[in-house]
Amino acid sequence: MAYDLAIVLPTFNESGNVGPIVDRLEQALKGIRYEVIFVDDDSPDGTADVVRRLARDRDNLRVLQRIGRRGLASACIEGILAAAAPYVAVMDADLQHDESILPEMLRRMREENLDLVVGSRNIAGGSMGEFARWRVKLSQLGRRFSLMGAEHELSDPMSGFFLVRLSTFERFAHRLSGIGFKILLDIVLSAGPGLRIGEVPYRFRLREHGESKLDVLVGLEYFELLVDKHLGGVVNVRFVLFGMVGALGVGVHLLILRTLLQVGGLSFATGQAVTTFIVMILNFVLNNSVTYRDRRLRGWRFLGGLITFCLACGLGVAANVAIANEAFRRGMPWVLAAVTGLMFTAVWNYGVTSMTTWRQERRSSEQRARQRIAAAANGSGEEEMPAKTT
Ligand code: GDD
Ligand code: MN
Repeated sequence: MAYDLAIVLPTFNESGNVGPIVDRLEQALKGIRYEVIFVDDDSPDGTADVVRRLARDRDNLRVLQRIGRRGLASACIEGILAAAAPYVAVMDADLQHDESILPEMLRRMREENLDLVVGSRNIAGGSMGEFARWRVKLSQLGRRFSLMGAEHELSDPMSGFFLVRLSTFERFAHRLSGIGFKILLDIVLSAGPGLRIGEVPYRFRLREHGESKLDVLVGLEYFELLVDKHLGGVVNVRFVLFGMVGALGVGVHLLILRTLLQVGGLSFATGQAVTTFIVMILNFVLNNSVTYRDRRLRGWRFLGGLITFCLACGLGVAANVAIANEAFRRGMPWVLAAVTGLMFTAVWNYGVTSMTTWRQERRSSEQRARQRIAAAANGSGEEEMPAKTT
C-alpha cells in the first residue's frame, strides 16, 4: 500500500507520550493513508522500546533509533529522508502540536501545489496557548534574528510543526546544517529562492507528560546554526567554539597572571606556571560542557579527560613556542610569528583532543541498554511498558 502522508516524530524521553500521540494521529487522519516514523536518540527511558512494541501490530509504524547521537534537527532530517510518502509532516511527540490541522495542511499542499506548509502560532487563529511568558519573549527574540538573509517571509520560523514535499526536500537536504532545535529555520535558510510556502494556524498546547529539553545550550545551538548557515562554508562550528573558549582562556590568563604578579607578588615563572594550570582546567571544563556537551565526560572519565587534555594542550603550547621562535629567528615579523604559533596550537589542540579526550564512546549507552533489557526480562514479562515519565 502506498502512503499519502508520513509523520516524523523526533523523541527524547517521551515514553509516556508515544501511545497517546499514536492514538491521536489515528483519530485525526481517518481516510488518509499515513505512516508514522519515530526518530529516537536512544532515550534512557526506553522510548524506542515502547514504539517497537506498538509497531508489532501496526504496519504503518516504526522507529529509527540513533545510538551515540543527539539533536532535534538532525533527527527530523533523517526521519524525513526515511519516509516513503510524498508529503512528510514533522511534529513534536509531546502532544503540544495540534495534529487535527494535518488534513488541512495536506489539502493546502496538494491543492495549491506548495512545497512547505507551516503550522503557525502567529497568524489569525493561531496562538502560543498558555506558553510561559519568558518562552513567548524568547521565541519573538529568536524570530527577530532568524530570517536575516532568508528569501522568505514566515510568521513562525521557530515552529517545529510543518509539512514538506519530499521531492523538494531532497533538493536541498545536503545543504542543511542539522544543528540544534530549529529545523524549519534551517530549511528556509538552506532552500534558496522559489519555495512555495503556506501557513495554517494552530494553538500551541501545554505539555502533559515528560519534560521540555529546552535549556541554555539550546540557545547556544541556535547561535551555532546561524554561524553555520552564514559561515559554514568556511569553518567548522565546533572548531569556532573551541577557538572561542581558547581566546577566552587567553584573556583570563592575562588577568589572573597580572593579579598574581601585582597583588600576590609571585615571580613571573611561578605565576605563569600556576596560571597556565588554572586556565587549562578552566578551558577543559568549558569545552567539556559547551563545545563537547554532546559527549560530556563525567565522573572518572572527567578526570581521565582532563589528563589527556592537559597533555595534548601542553604539547601544543610547547610546539607553539618552538615554531614561533623559529619563525621569528628567520625574520618573520613578531606579530605574524606569534599568530602562526597560535594558529598551529589551535589546530593541534582541537585535532588531538577531538581524537583522544572527546573521542566517541560507546560503552555507557550499551550498559544502559543492557540494564533496560535485563529489567524488562525480570519484570512482568514482554507486554510490560516502561513507566510513564510525568
Ligand atoms: N530525537 C531527538 N533528539 N528528539 C528530541 C531531542 C533530541 O535531541 N530534543 C528534543 N527532542 C524532541 C522531544 O522529545 C519532543 O518530541 C520534541 O523534540 C520537542 O522537544 P521539546 O523539548 O518538547 O521542545 P519545546 O517544547 O521546548 O520546543 C518546541 O517548541 C518550539 C516552539 O517554540 C519544539 O517543537 C521546537 O521545535 C519548537 O520550535
Ligand atoms: Mn515540547
